[in-house]
Amino acid sequence: MHVNHTYDGTWKGIEDITFRIEAGEFVFLTGTSGAGKTTLLKHIYMEELPDSGRGGRVVVSFPGVEAYDSSRVNRSGIQTLRREIGVVFQDFRLLTDRDVWENVAFALRVRGHGGRFLRRRVEEVLERARLTHRRHAHPNELSGGEQQRVSIARAIAGEPRIVLADEPTGNLDRENAEGVLEIFRQLHAAGTTIVMATHDLQLLERLPHRRIQLEDGRLKTRWF
Ligand SMILES: Nc1ncnc2c1ncn2[C@@H]1O[C@H](COP(=O)(O)OP(=O)(O)OP(=O)(O)O)[C@@H](O)[C@H]1O
Ligand SMILES: [Mg+2]
Repeated sequence: MHVNHTYDGTWKGIEDITFRIEAGEFVFLTGTSGAGKTTLLKHIYMEELPDSGRGGRVVVSFPGVEAYDSSRVNRSGIQTLRREIGVVFQDFRLLTDRDVWENVAFALRVRGHGGRFLRRRVEEVLERARLTHRRHAHPNELSGGEQQRVSIARAIAGEPRIVLADEPTGNLDRENAEGVLEIFRQLHAAGTTIVMATHDLQLLERLPHRRIQLEDGRLKTRWF
């Protein structure tokens, strides 16, 4: 991808960012607050599009499927693309009028699943996110860390090819962060592409993955 993005036509978002992520890779996106990590992730699932004119281009491609190209894709193409991507939003974006179980089930229904498969899969991911005991709670009854884990369970439920995780351990204590890390490690081992924005230096030290480092909206270094 190659991206320039300005918010409201003036405020600098990200500038002249070019990189490529291979299928099956696990990459970290790092940088101080405001560096542009969330903005960059939004470009991958096309919630934001590069500036018009010389703003660049984002291409997401999967084997055997026509590539999604931000310069050509339409609304329905973006909807289809998003079915391949699981997103752990920094601000969670849970459905406040539904309980934990329904929040996760919803992600499967939009992908066309139902019945016994859906029920089994919801139970399974809630178990992995250590949330089984909270399955009937509503988001406003959950701690920040629990909400974060619902957001992770929802993102992985549909077995997406890419998972974009925006500070997925930001609200978790060490033990829960370890649990979440283990989930991502297993997904990666199973072939899922993972892009994780994080401030967590301990996490970066422990996992030997490529790091895309942003500074003030620009690319700093691409490798360890
Ligand atoms: N919707 C918006 N409108 C205007 N400016 C925005 C908007 N979203 C982000 N920005 C600005 O774009 C820059 C990059 O923001 P972004 O959210 O991508 O940073 P970040 O690296 O994710 O930060 P953090 O670590 O705090 O989550 C910041 O200067 C931010 O204030
Ligand atoms: Mg952010």
